Amino acid sequence: MSTRVGTDIAEAARLLSAGGVVAMPTETVYGLAALARDADAVRRVYSIKGRPLDHPLIVHVANEEAAREWAGSWSPTADALAKRFWPGPLTLIVNRADFVPDFVTGGRPTVALRVPSHPLAIELLRRVDDGLAAPSANRFGRVSPTTAEHVRNDLGDDVDYVLDGGACDVGLESTIVDCSVDPPQILRPGGVAREDIEAVVRTLAPMSGPSRAPGMLDSHYAPNCRVVLRENDDESEPRSSGATRALDASVDPSSFARDMYAHLRNADSDGIETLVITLPAPHGIGLAIRDRLRKAAAQR
Ligand code: TXA
Ligand code: MG
Repeated sequence: MSTRVGTDIAEAARLLSAGGVVAMPTETVYGLAALARDADAVRRVYSIKGRPLDHPLIVHVANEEAAREWAGSWSPTADALAKRFWPGPLTLIVNRADFVPDFVTGGRPTVALRVPSHPLAIELLRRVDDGLAAPSANRFGRVSPTTAEHVRNDLGDDVDYVLDGGACDVGLESTIVDCSVDPPQILRPGGVAREDIEAVVRTLAPMSGPSRAPGMLDSHYAPNCRVVLRENDDESEPRSSGATRALDASVDPSSFARDMYAHLRNADSDGIETLVITLPAPHGIGLAIRDRLRKAAAQR
């Protein structure tokens, strides 16, 4: 039987509550969701993704109050960021509550928490009335999905249901801020701009050096084609071979972000060998676009 794709939120909630694995839409990318307290369901998420067990998962919750239950402590920084950006594309790393299972945190003393803003995600979380662990709904190392069809193409019959919430608004993953350290640090640039975080948290630790978010590998978000990146002011001819396509992310970065993963997928399905992309400036959403494209272009 083939996986059902649809908008039946009652069915999606029923399957999750019974220990199933459901792909859910969020405003960033589609997530592969399971009850965060259910060891067998979470194990299935890891195995469907082919993800190493020590890469911890984000727990999605309906609101700040629910997030605070999963947190062992709630710092003034976490509080200010949550009040400013939730629901929305921000993940907070905080000290975990005692009950939070090791199979979610990879045995860490911290947990990643996020309140998504997609209306179907919020409604699903309300109905399930518990935290949902959800990594992006792609196979490990590959391009993240931003439509139900992407999930269907990637994961086939491995998931119990794909809740179709249309194309994701932001198009790339949440910004991760580690609030368990002082000063706080951005571990992954994403849907909330660094400048907007800095307006709330005056002092941030620099983002340089290897990321402390496990699983932030050099090669990730990878299509099969070769990705060649260039700066906006680069006038040299890009090194391309075979069927080539050129894209410009510098003109309208937000709209590029929304379609970025679809562009990477389409290049492969259209038989493109070299995808040449002009990078956006490194501020606003441009920082996250550059991060993802650098990984998509990395040697593998
Ligand atoms: O927008 C998003 O964040 C999407 C949607 C589905 O919510 N989710 C997502 O999940 O991108 P995933 O699993 O692909 O990426 C989560 C990242 C991983 O790099 C993981 O290592 C990091 O969050 N992470 C999770 N828990 C952590 C923790 N306790 N400490 C440090 N990093 C953590
Ligand atoms: Mg991912």
